Amino acid sequence: MTSDPLRTKLCDMLDIEYPIIAFTHCKDVVAAVVNAGGFAVLGEAMHSPDEIVADIKWIREKVGDKPYGIDLVLPSSVPPSDSLDKLKDDIPEEQRQFAERIIKEHDVPTPKAEVALHKWGGLNQDMARAQLDVVLEEKVPVFTSGLGNPAFILEAAHSRGIKVFGLVGRARQAKKELEAGIDAIIAQGTDAAGHTGPIGTFSLVPEVAAMAGDTPIIAAGGVTTGRHLAAAICLGAAGVWTGTLWLASRESDSDMIIKEKLLAATSDDTVYGRSVSGMPMRTLKCVWTDEWAKPDAPKTLPAPYQMLLSADYIQAANDHRREDLMFEAAGQGVGFVTEMKPARQIVFDLVEEALDVFDGITADADSAVPAGG
Ligand SMILES: Cc1cc2nc3c(=O)[nH]c(=O)nc-3n(C[C@H](O)[C@H](O)[C@H](O)COP(=O)(O)O)c2cc1C
Repeated sequence: MTSDPLRTKLCDMLDIEYPIIAFTHCKDVVAAVVNAGGFAVLGEAMHSPDEIVADIKWIREKVGDKPYGIDLVLPSSVPPSDSLDKLKDDIPEEQRQFAERIIKEHDVPTPKAEVALHKWGGLNQDMARAQLDVVLEEKVPVFTSGLGNPAFILEAAHSRGIKVFGLVGRARQAKKELEAGIDAIIAQGTDAAGHTGPIGTFSLVPEVAAMAGDTPIIAAGGVTTGRHLAAAICLGAAGVWTGTLWLASRESDSDMIIKEKLLAATSDDTVYGRSVSGMPMRTLKCVWTDEWAKPDAPKTLPAPYQMLLSADYIQAANDHRREDLMFEAAGQGVGFVTEMKPARQIVFDLVEEALDVFDGITADADSAVPAGG
């Protein structure tokens, strides 16, 4: 073991102190984590190009020369632009009626704001391209893609000094991205919040690490403590990528109702299914996911149709702050998120606990050496 097991090749690549990456939709969390010596990536898939430019400017003002990342989604089959109404017309009657029944039976109100799906890069080819162009023009230090293989962007990114990280849920996806020359792979297990595959973090990470050579592997899915960070390093990862961990932080702009739900949740309170977006996704359980899991529920629709069905429910639940309806993407490690701490404190607690774990292992090994041996 090196003298500092947390000083990994990811730290060297990014010039960061700790191999901890935060994925977040909140700029304040990005600034706090980066300034605490970690790394953070802002999810911008729902933002217009102008908003992305403004956010990048804001982050630069807060973190100076320190690196940060921007995340977009690049699904393989983004529908053509301006086709949302057409897509809605194609939703089959059975699923439409089932969604209407949920809305009626649970007294789900009408959303107050416009349902802003047209901005999501995953539903609009022009938007996805324009978002990507901004990331290239702004020469952000790191670009990551939560959905889709970013291999096609590598040349353009590398020529501008941008590193590209790909997020994968299966070893075969990792192989393709490694062959294309990706800078780092985030190996995300099924424990994770949001869109995720069926393979557990404990199986996926070492499998991907074994094929990665010098390319850093970053473990994701269920990482919410320093013990997880230490375990990830032992599995062959050069760092961790975390999402759930930051949702209830002081800086997080998540609704207080969501924060309280997360603080109270255990590993048994998340559900893995297709009812929210049509793709496998892990979230907190809620009325919507419970209803679609019932034996009499129709089959969920493929993306993007299922997303068009769930959008009104989600927007209404949030607009009206209906505690009984609201939910959020959350990973199985949520049970360890029990306090609303500042993001900086979360970074330091993770580091301290991981170092304690490594010290404990070393101390145990030392005491196991026979005298004179
Ligand atoms: C509220 C929330 C929203 C997310 N949205 C995205 C997203 O837009 N793009 C993406 O790449 N990953 C997204 N993720 C997944 C994270 O990037 C990360 O892979 C995941 O949270 C890791 O698992 P963990 O939550 O157990 O730490 C989201 C996660 C959360 C908690």
